Parts: sequence; C-alpha cells; structure tokens
Amino acid sequence: MDIIIREMREKDLDRIMEIEESVFTTPWSREAFLLEMTRNLLAKYIVAEIDNKIIGYGGIWLIIDEGHITNIAVDEEYRGLGAGKRLIEGLINLCSDRGIRAMTLEVRKSNLIAQRLYEQYGFIKSGIRPRYYSDDNEDAVIMWKSIEV
Ligand SMILES: CC(C)(COP(=O)(O)OP(=O)(O)OC[C@H]1O[C@@H](n2cnc3c(N)ncnc32)[C@H](O)[C@@H]1OP(=O)(O)O)[C@@H](O)C(=O)NCCC(=O)NCCS
Repeated sequence: MDIIIREMREKDLDRIMEIEESVFTTPWSREAFLLEMTRNLLAKYIVAEIDNKIIGYGGIWLIIDEGHITNIAVDEEYRGLGAGKRLIEGLINLCSDRGIRAMTLEVRKSNLIAQRLYEQYGFIKSGIRPRYYSDDNEDAVIMWKSIEV
C-alpha cells in the first residue's frame, strides 16, 4: 500500500481530531490545530494517507535554524506499516529544504516505541525535562538530531 505524504489542510481536521483524541490522553483541540495552520507562520503540518484516507500526521515549528517537532501520531489500526517513518522523513525534509541543520523534540520517558523510531533517524537523547507532562507528571526525554548537508 502506497503511503502519500502531503501538507495538512483545514478540511482534514475532522479526521485529525479523530486520531488525536484516540491516541493522546491530553489531545490538542481542533482550534489549536486550526491556529497552528492559519496563524503560526513558523508551523508546518503534514499528513500520511493511504487510499485517500488520513492515517497519521506530524508537525514542526521551524524556528530560525532549529526544527522543533510538535507532534506525530499514527492511527492505531495503521501502525507498523511505515507511516511513522514517512512522517519523520517528511519533517526532516522540511528542515533540510530550508537549510535547518538541527532538530529537537520531547517524548515521554515511557514511550520506547517512539524513542526507537527517532533513534533510527539519528535523534540522540540529550536530557530530561522533569515532570514535563502535566496530566501525570511524567518526565520528557529531550532528543536532538543534526542534519548532514
Ligand atoms: C510512534 C508512532 C508514530 C510510530 O508510528 P508507526 O506508523 O507505527 O511507525 P512505523 O511503522 O513507521 O515504524 C517505525 C519504527 O517505530 C518503531 N516501532 C513501531 N512499532 C513498534 C513496536 N510495536 N514495538 C517496538 N518498536 C516499534 C520501530 O523502531 C519501527 O521501525 P522498524 O520497523 O524498522 O523496527 C506510533 O506508534 C504512534 O502514533 N504512537 C502514539 C503517539 C506517539 O507516541 N507519538 C510520539 C509522541 S513524541
């Protein structure tokens, strides 16, 4: 099955919210996504599709010379098919196209699946933000990646 990566559009938001609410304990609101897409000039959001159905999405803030991944999620029914990798590659490409050479993200300490995915793309654990997640006070692992020219 072909996975297509494309920019997120406003009309995608119903499906994005369906995934967001099923995946995260403290999901972003629809308004938060809308503001990111329409007002935040630093933000870029992409979706992964199979057969015209959105199965995942990811976002990044492009801040001068740094890319900060804000979120990445794949519908549980479509995991393990490579969509997570395609989304990370899409976000890395957005950075490299702009000459950005460093990327960072936070990930829950217990989220070993996501950490493993990021490590495959050269993200390295470089610190802890203690009690970063307000719902359960879990620590965040900070990861950084440098992009080779
Ligand atoms: C993390 C996530 C995006 C991965 O999406 P996915 O489409 O299943 O990922 P892929 O199929 O591209 O797999 C990529 C890699 O993830 C890791 N991975 C995926 N599923 C895994 C599993 N069940 N066990 C261990 N590692 C796993 C592996 O490193 C895998 O690479 P490999 O197949 O070469 O071993 C997805 O699990 C998800 O949405 N999780 C919930 C939201 C989340 O945690 N987001 C990250 C917040 S920082």
